[in-house]
Amino acid sequence: MKVHGTPTRTIWLTDDGETVEIIDQTRLPHEFVIARLTDLDSACHAIKAMLVRGAPLIGATAAHGMALAMRSDASDAGLSRAYEALFATRPTAVNLRWALDEMKALLAPLPAAERAAAAQARAVTLCDEDVGLNEAIGDAGHAVFRDLWEKKGRPDQFNVLTHCNAGWLATVDWGTALAPIYKAHDAGLPIHVWVDETRPRNQGASLTAWELNQHGVPHTVIVDNAGGHMMQHGLVDACMVGTDRTTATGDVCNKIGTYLKALAAHDNGVPFYVALPSPTIDWTVSDGVAEIPIEDRGPGEVCRLWGRLDSGETAWITVTPDGSPAANPAFDVTPARLVTGLVTERGVCPASAEGLAGLFPERAPAAAE
Ligand code: MRU
Repeated sequence: MKVHGTPTRTIWLTDDGETVEIIDQTRLPHEFVIARLTDLDSACHAIKAMLVRGAPLIGATAAHGMALAMRSDASDAGLSRAYEALFATRPTAVNLRWALDEMKALLAPLPAAERAAAAQARAVTLCDEDVGLNEAIGDAGHAVFRDLWEKKGRPDQFNVLTHCNAGWLATVDWGTALAPIYKAHDAGLPIHVWVDETRPRNQGASLTAWELNQHGVPHTVIVDNAGGHMMQHGLVDACMVGTDRTTATGDVCNKIGTYLKALAAHDNGVPFYVALPSPTIDWTVSDGVAEIPIEDRGPGEVCRLWGRLDSGETAWITVTPDGSPAANPAFDVTPARLVTGLVTERGVCPASAEGLAGLFPERAPAAAE
């Protein structure tokens, strides 16, 4: 997608092949800063401190992190060390494990002398593949929107609510939940997006709003608690969100607050779709609530906010009284029964074992039984 008119990805290799560059997402929307990843430690830090975030981009960064690690130590011990260090950065998005497994499967059989070059080449193709998957999700989701819009009698405005940031900033390019929105907007569908602010880190207010602004998509930021009210008053035609891990049975883990939006959508008859590339499916898990590890990011993000002061400077402010404890579960699980459909690179399916097995028969032997 474009930043100030220039096509930009979230992660790329510099022309000399020596360095990986990323957009430092902790500085958006007020500052656009490029950061450099030069070794395993800087890649781990970028994921852990959320300079990069969003399930597909976490996986892509881990792949590049593995490649950077191979430059300084391509031994078997170095490979294991890099895998473990990157795996420990964030627990919920399964794309991290998927990308690391891909890299390990490629690198482990190779002689050490060949690993650095092979790792870098695979990290680059893994990023390119991510772009292709997301663009295909965009086409499938655009068809869903167009169908709903036509069934509603082609209203002048088609309102989609989204949560967190599942746009191009959360992937290498295009995004998952926002890819259908970009496709629909570009094709002339009169789409308008309700952007959940998404406390505590405000990925909606900071990142989704910034992206939509850059692309010229009409949108309005709302506080997290407003969605139910909007749905009761007929102001939401569809919800489209992303996911960090979807079980083989269609339970959807996503940013905290997604479950409440799904409940409100269910109560009001609003279609609730989840967009995901196949690396986000965890085929080993069937009960999302019981089995998916939920990241606890600590109280700081709840008690403090980063933003721009009237003076133009950026600063952290504290919003809670000194001494009040805060809890910060970063994700929740929406049971499959609340999900209208899963939008994947292979098309749309019901959120169920049968639905996923139908689209990905080669990956779902257990689910299909
Ligand atoms: O904590 P974050 O910002 O990494 O959480 C991101 C989300 O929850 C996204 O909705 C999810 O990763 C899907 S991204 C295409």
